[in-house]
Amino acid sequence: MWEVFFSLLLLLQCQGGKVTAQRPRPSPWQTLKGDAPVVVAKGGFSGLFPDSSLTAYTFALVASSPDTILWCDVQLTKDGIGVCLPNVKLDNCTDISGIYPQRNKVYLVNGVSTPGWFSVDFNSTELAPVSLIQGIYSRTDKFDQSLFPILGVEDVVTQLTPPAPILWLNIQHDIFYSQHNLSMRNFVLSVSKRVVVSYLSSPEVAFLSGISPRFKKSNTKLVFRFLDEDVIEPSTNQTYGSLLKNLTFIETFASGILVPKHYIWPVTSDNYLQPYTSIVMDAHKAGLEIFAGDFANDAVLSYNYSYSPLAEQLSFIDNGAFSVDGVVTDFPITPSEAIGCFSHINKSTTDHGKPIIVSHYGASGDYPDCTNLAYEKAVEDGADIIDCPVQVTSDRVPICMSSINLMDDTTVLNSPFSSPSSQILDIQSSPGIFTFNLTWDEIKQNLKPQISSPESSYMLVRNPRYKNAGSFMTLSDFLKFAKDKALSGVLISIEHAAFMAEKLGFDVTNTVITALKDNGFNNQTTLGVTIQSTNSSVLVKFKQQTKYNLMYKVDESIRDAVSSSIVDIKKFADSVAVDKESIYPTSMKFITGQTQLVSTLQKGGLAVYVYILRNEFVSQAWDFFSDPIVEINSFVEEAGVDGVITDFPGTARAYKSNSCTKLGDDAPGYMQPVQVGGLLQLLAKKAQPPAEAPFPILNPSDVVEPPLPPAINSSTPTSPGGGGNASAPPTPPSKASICTISSAFSTTLLALFGFLLFF
Ligand SMILES: *[C@@H]1O[C@H](CO)[C@@H](O)[C@H](O)[C@H]1NC(C)=O
Ligand SMILES: *[C@@H]1O[C@H](CO)[C@@H](O)[C@H](O)[C@H]1NC(C)=O
Ligand SMILES: *[C@@H]1O[C@H](CO)[C@@H](O)[C@H](O)[C@H]1NC(C)=O
Ligand SMILES: *[C@@H]1O[C@H](CO)[C@@H](O)[C@H](O)[C@H]1NC(C)=O
Ligand SMILES: *[C@@H]1O[C@H](CO)[C@@H](O)[C@H](O)[C@H]1NC(C)=O
Ligand SMILES: *[C@@H]1O[C@H](CO)[C@@H](O)[C@H](O)[C@H]1NC(C)=O
Ligand SMILES: *[C@@H]1O[C@H](CO)[C@@H](O)[C@H](O)[C@H]1NC(C)=O
Ligand SMILES: *[C@@H]1O[C@H](CO)[C@@H](O)[C@H](O)[C@H]1NC(C)=O
Ligand SMILES: *[C@@H]1O[C@H](CO)[C@@H](O)[C@H](O)[C@H]1NC(C)=O
Ligand SMILES: *[C@@H]1O[C@H](CO)[C@@H](O)[C@H](O)[C@H]1NC(C)=O
Ligand SMILES: *[C@@H]1O[C@H](CO)[C@@H](O)[C@H](O)[C@H]1NC(C)=O
Ligand SMILES: *[C@@H]1O[C@H](CO)[C@@H](O)[C@H](O)[C@H]1NC(C)=O
Repeated sequence: MWEVFFSLLLLLQCQGGKVTAQRPRPSPWQTLKGDAPVVVAKGGFSGLFPDSSLTAYTFALVASSPDTILWCDVQLTKDGIGVCLPNVKLDNCTDISGIYPQRNKVYLVNGVSTPGWFSVDFNSTELAPVSLIQGIYSRTDKFDQSLFPILGVEDVVTQLTPPAPILWLNIQHDIFYSQHNLSMRNFVLSVSKRVVVSYLSSPEVAFLSGISPRFKKSNTKLVFRFLDEDVIEPSTNQTYGSLLKNLTFIETFASGILVPKHYIWPVTSDNYLQPYTSIVMDAHKAGLEIFAGDFANDAVLSYNYSYSPLAEQLSFIDNGAFSVDGVVTDFPITPSEAIGCFSHINKSTTDHGKPIIVSHYGASGDYPDCTNLAYEKAVEDGADIIDCPVQVTSDRVPICMSSINLMDDTTVLNSPFSSPSSQILDIQSSPGIFTFNLTWDEIKQNLKPQISSPESSYMLVRNPRYKNAGSFMTLSDFLKFAKDKALSGVLISIEHAAFMAEKLGFDVTNTVITALKDNGFNNQTTLGVTIQSTNSSVLVKFKQQTKYNLMYKVDESIRDAVSSSIVDIKKFADSVAVDKESIYPTSMKFITGQTQLVSTLQKGGLAVYVYILRNEFVSQAWDFFSDPIVEINSFVEEAGVDGVITDFPGTARAYKSNSCTKLGDDAPGYMQPVQVGGLLQLLAKKAQPPAEAPFPILNPSDVVEPPLPPAINSSTPTSPGGGGNASAPPTPPSKASICTISSAFSTTLLALFGFLLFF
């Protein structure tokens, strides 16, 4: 335990009293009293560590705002000791079933017959060997190998460094414990003489109204907790929904209410946000504070939030109409940053400084790749640069399409062109239906775009309402669209240029140069042009003919680049795009270290962009707390990248507009970059993920390519069924992909996540 603790403190390099100065100006907060909302950490930082463990509580204070309130769900042991455990049943949150396999019982809990292990059957001595574990399967269970003793309520206050945290006790069950001759009332009254209890909540009217006279003269705030509307409150036999209509009654014994977040922003069964209710205003009118609960960054968020937990937080605290007085969450860092750094921001300011936000297929997190809607959203969300991957149709129209294979991003399989497919080994080993097999008219008139869902194996799909929304665009449409927007530039990416020249007789580089010229993108336009390719021969050609910015994309994970390869890259590129793993390699989603690649490339005179940033929490390492802002902050502040390539430009823009990073070392701790790799040190030896083979080092031979072949003008344009020659020479891509490691471990993750994401 001490070892764990020691490393925990190591991880927390950032705190040391760097709390933001309190604002002197008039309060912008629409809370009951105009104070900033409070952050309540349910069971500590339970999104990462076992709920109610000392590590979870300590971590909440160090990783989040230092005045984060620590929530303890109180349960009573047979000998009347109050302990913090998230559930009346111990089997889901501890390893008790393995320690006392015979001692499960069936009890009535609020009238419902409930099998399990209960604290009323164990005295505190018997619970000593029991350890807390992670009860939610979408979270890592790797920490379960360490020992997390069950804490007594007072331990939360006395064992913590720094001491004297703000304590919130939740009494979920009073009736159940009285049925077992144990008194919550006596426990709460006695504990409150020994430690300061700042908040006391319960969903039972009788308990709270009975005890409230005893707290009249204290600073303890009593909070009535609402459960789902149709659940019956056991002491009044009314549903919580009907109690909600009687806030003046609640006000007779409580100073605040805690409601599930859907009371405020209802969500449809298919997960869309409905207009907000009047409950926050009603509560404030009745003189009650209102807290919103059930926040978790790894919960299924409404599609309206584009998988951004920050956007969700802001809709509760900074929406122009109201603010809740506090939020109860498993991930306290996210509301901390929302409150401290992302609220009341003037959104009309857009600068194109670093980090430069490059869209990935437009705002492809929200709309199908490379459609008009994806590009409009990217501009609206504040991308600095929007991107068009150029493909060609059989009638030689250059178009923007994320994949050369129409099966990947269109409805071609449900179209008259669903067969035949062709196998073209120059492109991929599996058969495809390619852009160059259909004319532009055929594509436009018969196919629809299809939204990407890179994390669908975790059941995280992107907005179904926009599944097939929007229209395809030609390169020329794209350039015309971009021209008068408040962007800093466009990025054109070009792949398969040699194939197009040799096999299709299509000169893609000249076509792009011509299209840019025709649309007024000459060398001097204010809107910059960046050409991106994984093949240096394309960039070499542009270097000879234009003055555009050139970005070399490294399409495999690397750990370093030898200096001669950097000298080579510098000959044809100004910037390099590398994947996330090349900067922060991971094992089992734990970051194992940080490479020096970014600074090495930058010293060589190359700007560095990282790809692909995504909001879906499964795409991020555990070290980033399922919070895309934390991930961006680390890549920008710690790794020092010049730009990010992202499916969600809106999230990157929110990051860029925050009011804290400009404070530098004075930024609050939760906006300092996390110490990457710190979590790994917290894992018990036996829980360490396997050491992965290190990624290769980029060599000149990986970088230098033969020149592009000339486009051979075959007079016979491709026709369906024809062209028997195309699949003949099987020259597989020379650069072997090294990223096979990830497939093995994503299977494990899949198993981990497969069970539930809904809670
Ligand atoms: C706890 O229970 C065990 C087993 O029943 C018993 O031996 C022990 O004395 C009890 N301890 C306390 C403090 O009640
Ligand atoms: C364990 O408890 C959590 C909440 O405390 C709940 O979301 C989850 O569904 C529970 N798991 C099981 C298997 O009961
Ligand atoms: C509670 O105490 C009463 C009265 O002493 C007794 O009859 C009852 O069996 C006890 N219940 C439990 C669950 O111990
Ligand atoms: C609530 O209902 C239960 C069973 O229906 C009953 O035993 C109890 O007395 C009722 N309580 C109140 C306060 O009406
Ligand atoms: C509010 O609740 C109190 C206590 O249960 C009850 O006396 C009163 O009639 C209720 N008022 C309304 C409007 O339901
Ligand atoms: C949520 O998104 C849906 C679909 O785009 C939209 O119809 C709805 O109005 C949005 N809800 C809110 C509260 O903005
Ligand atoms: C927001 O920023 C714009 C541009 O800098 C400025 O014109 C405007 O006055 C600002 N609005 C507020 C409310 O500060
Ligand atoms: C752009 O610059 C290149 C290289 O200096 C030059 O060859 C080309 O003519 C210029 N194009 C335009 C449209 O100015
Ligand atoms: C890059 O393009 C050249 C032609 O210029 C081609 O010979 C080579 O195979 C390409 N490299 C890769 C990795 O596709
Ligand atoms: C290819 O040849 C056709 C006629 O055979 C001609 O119209 C076309 O301009 C040529 N394309 C190129 C790029 O040379
Ligand atoms: C698609 O185009 C390629 C290249 O022109 C050709 O080899 C292939 O046969 C075509 N496939 C179909 C189904 O037309
Ligand atoms: C197929 O390609 C070979 C050489 O690559 C060429 O000699 C032959 O004429 C081509 N056949 C057809 C049908 O185009």
